Amino acid sequence: MVYCKNVLFILGLILALDSYCTTQEINKDEPTPYHDWDYIVYSQRWPITACIDWQEEKEGNTCNLPDDKTMWTIHGLWPTKNGTKGPLFCPSAIHFDPNALEPIINELNSSWINIEANTKPNSFWKHEWAKHGTCASTLPQLDSILNYFQQGLVWNEQYKLSDILTQSKVIPGTEGYTIDQIYNAVKLSTQSTPIIQCTVDRKTKESMISEIQICFNKSLEVVDCDQFQTDNENKLGILTDCSLKKPVMYFAEIPNGVSYEMDYVDSAFKQHLDEHIYYLSIYRLLRFLIWYTT
Ligand SMILES: *[C@@H]1O[C@H](CO)[C@@H](O)[C@H](O)[C@H]1NC(C)=O
Ligand SMILES: *[C@@H]1O[C@H](CO)[C@@H](O)[C@H](O)[C@H]1NC(C)=O
Ligand SMILES: *[C@@H]1O[C@H](CO)[C@@H](O)[C@H](O)[C@H]1NC(C)=O
Repeated sequence: MVYCKNVLFILGLILALDSYCTTQEINKDEPTPYHDWDYIVYSQRWPITACIDWQEEKEGNTCNLPDDKTMWTIHGLWPTKNGTKGPLFCPSAIHFDPNALEPIINELNSSWINIEANTKPNSFWKHEWAKHGTCASTLPQLDSILNYFQQGLVWNEQYKLSDILTQSKVIPGTEGYTIDQIYNAVKLSTQSTPIIQCTVDRKTKESMISEIQICFNKSLEVVDCDQFQTDNENKLGILTDCSLKKPVMYFAEIPNGVSYEMDYVDSAFKQHLDEHIYYLSIYRLLRFLIWYTT
């Protein structure tokens, strides 16, 4: 019986751990205890990669893509405290109101696009404001919804990433580029160190360029991201999570759009099955232990 209690204890522990892990994941978008920040990470996304990620995430997901197929769109202006992520979700008297964006709605609709089409109208802008804008608004230049979003448009005009990359012959296609080709292209143009982010294609495991970030100080002037960032730096001295060995893909279009969703369903199903088999084997082991010890 002593063994049996131990087994039950372990079972309880497994269940507790399991729900603990799940809860942790759900609550990852929480306010930070600090609200002060040192600089702004201005993040632009490559819509094709964002769309591939979104379509692979869940069956039936659809995308909005810009009319201009070469355009990098705005993701957000993220105030950042030296050496940390965030602050996020700061206390602010200003709650998101889409009407505040009326004067710039056309520009936002073409440059600050919600790629994830099957989500609520305005949800992307609302999220960016709640998570980052509320923290940015301590700066007088960004102290309203309109000012915050307008600044994104200004920088999108000023730092046209497709032009910047094209000048260094980094153009969308199927060949891929080394990470330093991309990094050097941005650095040459902005005279500052950027952050380059990738995602990994769930199906092909290719490294795909997803975001390029340029950093700004509180005078809204461009500064090196690496004077602030401490993580993600690798032996090349580049702030990136992209593959350093494989080519970084910069697709011009969604490759084989349809087959992606099918493959994802298969792999999701397989993962589910694997989990099921895992729990089944624990269950069998426990049953055996209980049988053995009583
Ligand atoms: C902006 O885009 C949304 C979603 O695509 C659309 O519903 C809305 O009518 C557009 N607004 C303008 C002014 O074009
Ligand atoms: C921002 O950077 C510019 C250029 O390096 C500098 O002149 C300015 O003083 C900086 N502003 C702040 C608030 O650090
Ligand atoms: C941020 O951290 C770096 C490295 O620790 C330091 O050199 C820099 O002065 C810091 N900047 C600010 C604005 O605190």
